Amino acid sequence: MLPTIEWQDDAIVMIDQRKLPSAEVWVRCRTANEVARAITTMVIRGAPAIGVAAAMGIALAMRRSKATGTRQFAAEFQKTCDRLAATRPTAVNLFWAIERMKKTFAAVAQTGASVGEIRTRLEDEARAIHDEDVASCREMGRIGAEYVPDGARILTHCNAGALATAGYGTALGVIRAAAEAGKRVSVLADETRPFLQGARLTAWELVRDGIDTTVITDNMAGAMMRQGLVDLVVVGADRIAANGDVANKIGTYSVAVLAKAHRIPFYVAAPLSTIDLATLDGDHIPIEERPAKEVTHVGPTRLTPEGAKIRNPAFDVTPHEYVSAIFTERGACTPPLAESLRRVAGTQDASTQD
Ligand code: MRU
Repeated sequence: MLPTIEWQDDAIVMIDQRKLPSAEVWVRCRTANEVARAITTMVIRGAPAIGVAAAMGIALAMRRSKATGTRQFAAEFQKTCDRLAATRPTAVNLFWAIERMKKTFAAVAQTGASVGEIRTRLEDEARAIHDEDVASCREMGRIGAEYVPDGARILTHCNAGALATAGYGTALGVIRAAAEAGKRVSVLADETRPFLQGARLTAWELVRDGIDTTVITDNMAGAMMRQGLVDLVVVGADRIAANGDVANKIGTYSVAVLAKAHRIPFYVAAPLSTIDLATLDGDHIPIEERPAKEVTHVGPTRLTPEGAKIRNPAFDVTPHEYVSAIFTERGACTPPLAESLRRVAGTQDASTQD
């Protein structure tokens, strides 16, 4: 499995997800500002992956800091956290990871540690966030795979795969784990307009793994369901509110409504770092509006006439009534989701801010 993001000497290296599948290009970030730009421009994307990138970006910035005293070091640290927090608003994993780095900083600084010692602890924390994400994906994959029958035809939306995490994936982790358990599975991948994460990234990952994959345009999902070609849906999430409402890639809500109309289970796979008990419901989740150019153009080709207004909300909210279960690394949450989410995530340190 290709690493989504890794340390290489004094840089953070990530595969450029804007270029896949036509080219495998690696981007080297040498500053936190470069990491922030990589997140905003979608070189790296996917909720857990941007959290990991932010943590690594903070560690990188503090490694390169010339500060000698802890006061100046702390001021630089805060500025770096603010810069990374301003990249994308919806995925709570970003704020969760930054908060974790802040808590680490405060705990070490409070012991009277030197700049060098704080720096080392921040790097260790960023590595831990990375490694724990892969472990969480594997565990939630194992748990979710129990809900996948042999021969299942699975529809997924966007890319919730290895590329969207530190490795293995959330929704694709469930599919991978089912395949590894010997189940025959096939996947319908929604292309996911406008950024085409499904057509480009999900299909690329699954084909590399030898999993039977068919790409459909987003507007084909209903017809496929009506023809009895879909047994279950599994998607990832960018933020899950306390009542179980799920923010995920734009188009997820339509898939959930279609799934309910056809009595098809609609599953969400997400680590605890995606659960935001501080946000009461989906109406309080900030939805990112991305540049119009993602809609008006495909590559260099303009699709829309000048003068037409454009909307480009990058996410939507699926109300909890549409969700059959949420797979986490600590178990599957089933309705009533508010209760089961509190049970799995209530004890985790999931404070968020935005
Ligand atoms: O805009 P993106 O590509 O970052 O959106 C990604 C998604 O919506 C994913 O489904 C979500 O982050 C879950 S990734 C494991």
